[in-house]
Amino acid sequence: MEILPLHSIQNIMSLNVFDNLTALKEEISSWKPNDSEALEIFRIRFIGTKNILKPLMGEIRNVPNERKKEFGQLLNEVKDLAETVFQSQKEIFDASNATGNSLHLDLTAPGEPVDIGSRHPVSITMNRIIKIFDRMGFVVAEEREIEDDWHNFSAMNTPADHPARDMQDTYYLRDNSNMLLRTHTSSVQARIMMSQKPPIRIIAPGRVYRNETISARSHCQFHQVEGLYIDKKVSFADLKQTLLHFSKEMYGPHTKIRLRPSYFPFTEPSAEMDVSCFICDSKGCNVCKYTGWVEIMGCGMVDPQVLINCGIDPEEYSGFAFGMGIERQAMMLYGIQDIRLLFENDVRFLRQFTSAR
Ligand code: PHE
Repeated sequence: MEILPLHSIQNIMSLNVFDNLTALKEEISSWKPNDSEALEIFRIRFIGTKNILKPLMGEIRNVPNERKKEFGQLLNEVKDLAETVFQSQKEIFDASNATGNSLHLDLTAPGEPVDIGSRHPVSITMNRIIKIFDRMGFVVAEEREIEDDWHNFSAMNTPADHPARDMQDTYYLRDNSNMLLRTHTSSVQARIMMSQKPPIRIIAPGRVYRNETISARSHCQFHQVEGLYIDKKVSFADLKQTLLHFSKEMYGPHTKIRLRPSYFPFTEPSAEMDVSCFICDSKGCNVCKYTGWVEIMGCGMVDPQVLINCGIDPEEYSGFAFGMGIERQAMMLYGIQDIRLLFENDVRFLRQFTSAR
């Protein structure tokens, strides 16, 4: 048997120690626990007070001087690696445990209740209105809430000095007084007429703003659905039939409508439409204020000047338009007494609409 000189023996030992450390390093990097026991075993082996790296420290004696530094660095590296790998694997393990993805999933545990939420009563009402007009061939058109003066007012036959501007107190954007929060969805009429050729048959649901004092009956933001129909030979009779059909679909087959002459700058003739009170069957209640009728919208034949403003020839085309408020109808449908409830987003209020779509 060959006798090795002392320095060679030291070399072989130190080589083994280096190999050992490298092997441990590999073991640590590729380690993945699949249960909490494995985590604990790893912790005891590499991190605990009696971990296997500790005795390796004593081995530094057998490492030749010129490699002592390298050995120390490698040992520290393996120690640090063990710490970080343990921490990150523990985190992954804990997280997957929390979401129930671990192998230790308890299939008999009661499920977590799924909170399905509910639609807002304004959305429910709006969707009902949209569906009814959809069946009559009206297409939904959505437009901007920040409008310019022209689309909201001027195009709609309401120039700057027009007294009808006072009907709607307007929020102007501070830095640019030409821009405003639309006061009605009638601005969509102008946008659509400017960009589409007749026949036009749209409804435009959306939010509108008016500088009004907030109370149980009015708010500074609310929702409207606008309707616009432009074609050859559209008549007031078409408007009446369309609105009658809508009202029966919305409030029941026995619903009657009433058109009262009114004024809007953008329609001529103009009317306000009431539906027979479906709460008291027109017998009189506090919703209809004992009149038997509830006002739900403004409407009329599109003023020829509006058609001209928007590039449509009034000799060839005519049309009708209407605009209805949503909150009032939602309040009627659900017996809500205070409009502010619709904007407070109190979940105790909103949860009551879970079953409605
Ligand atoms: N824009 C009107 C309002 O907000 C309603 C309306 C729309 C009237 C279309 C006539 C035609 O009060």
